[in-house]
Amino acid sequence: MSHEHLSQALRRIAASGTTAMTDRATALREAGRDIISLSVGEPDFDTPPHVLGAAQGALNTGHTKYTPVTGTLRLRQAAALHFRRDLGIECRPDEVIVTAGGKQALFEALAVTVGEGDEVIVPSPWWVSYPQMVRFAGGKVVPLITQPHHLYRFDPGDLEALITSATQWLILNSPGNPTGAVYPRELLRGIGEVLRRHPQVMVLSDDIYAPLNYTGEPHATLAAVCPELADRVCTVSGVSKSHAMTGFRIGVATGPAWLIEAMGRLQSNASGNASAVGQAAAVAAFEGPQEFLQEWRERFRQRRDLVIQAIRAIPGLSTATPDGAFYCFVDAKPLMKRFGSDDTKLALHLLEHGVAVVAASAFGGRDGFRISFAADEAVLEEAMQRIAAALRE
Ligand SMILES: Cc1ncc(COP(=O)(O)O)c(C=O)c1O
Repeated sequence: MSHEHLSQALRRIAASGTTAMTDRATALREAGRDIISLSVGEPDFDTPPHVLGAAQGALNTGHTKYTPVTGTLRLRQAAALHFRRDLGIECRPDEVIVTAGGKQALFEALAVTVGEGDEVIVPSPWWVSYPQMVRFAGGKVVPLITQPHHLYRFDPGDLEALITSATQWLILNSPGNPTGAVYPRELLRGIGEVLRRHPQVMVLSDDIYAPLNYTGEPHATLAAVCPELADRVCTVSGVSKSHAMTGFRIGVATGPAWLIEAMGRLQSNASGNASAVGQAAAVAAFEGPQEFLQEWRERFRQRRDLVIQAIRAIPGLSTATPDGAFYCFVDAKPLMKRFGSDDTKLALHLLEHGVAVVAASAFGGRDGFRISFAADEAVLEEAMQRIAAALRE
């Protein structure tokens, strides 16, 4: 198959930068090299036993066939409970869609609304797939650049300066990948005020990391903080990150009925329902015990502190303190001359020294890299020693 067969839409996008690095690390490991992979966005904890039990129960009772395209009623009810209990968003099961991971929900929301000339405001540094999804749909990515000294959050005024009559979406991701930015309630209120002045703008709120918030404040999300805007907010959540269920491929989204219907229409022709077994497991995740999430959060917070301390002890490296998720976005500007100002070269240098990270440029940033701290403490300590040694040379 040669290049000229590829569609214009496909030619506008590249493969996910994080996946590329993880694949590279896996290949080296398979070739016998000792590589610590801090490139992947995945909790290292085991999937909880009650979730595994529900999956096994589904297999044993023949839940191995098609389900309704937008998900079983049981899971949509459980997801509605999750949206209300954990995010403060009131919704009915028919306003919920179940997808193959949060990623599919985000893709569908953009694919069914964005066309040629539409603008999507994406805070940068961004999660790798947002700009690709926008470009694939034919839209224009409008970066909203955020800074480490501002904990990678934007002010309402920064947002308003970028809104035009062509703006279709603002993407919000709190807690955020790759920076760990968390938008507090007050800031969301200010953003809501701007949005009230621009009724053409919808908001895609990616709350997939909601339980991983280290600020001590409850999670805040736009549709809950500004319920009067809820009819133009699509909120995406899931179980991948919160419940260590990345391989189950279950995501959930809620939003205005017309949008959820449109996403379902696309899904019915593209992939159909998410896995029936995965859906049964996700019911257990949403309805089962939640207390362990606090324990996990505390473990992640300790790991974050370990990594931040180690980074700040390495000459030339600095980082803002991530308030959520499990990533540290590291600035290496003072060292970049050694790598020809190319942070991919820096990431490959670290890989040579046994640690896989992802270059900041994969996230629309520059002169640095992202570390995932979703790994065991001993592994993180070893990784940080390797990074220190690699940069000492
Ligand atoms: C910000 C963000 N949104 C969405 C996703 C997708 O999650 P899922 O595995 O449920 O598709 C990820 C996963 O890396 C993510 O980091």
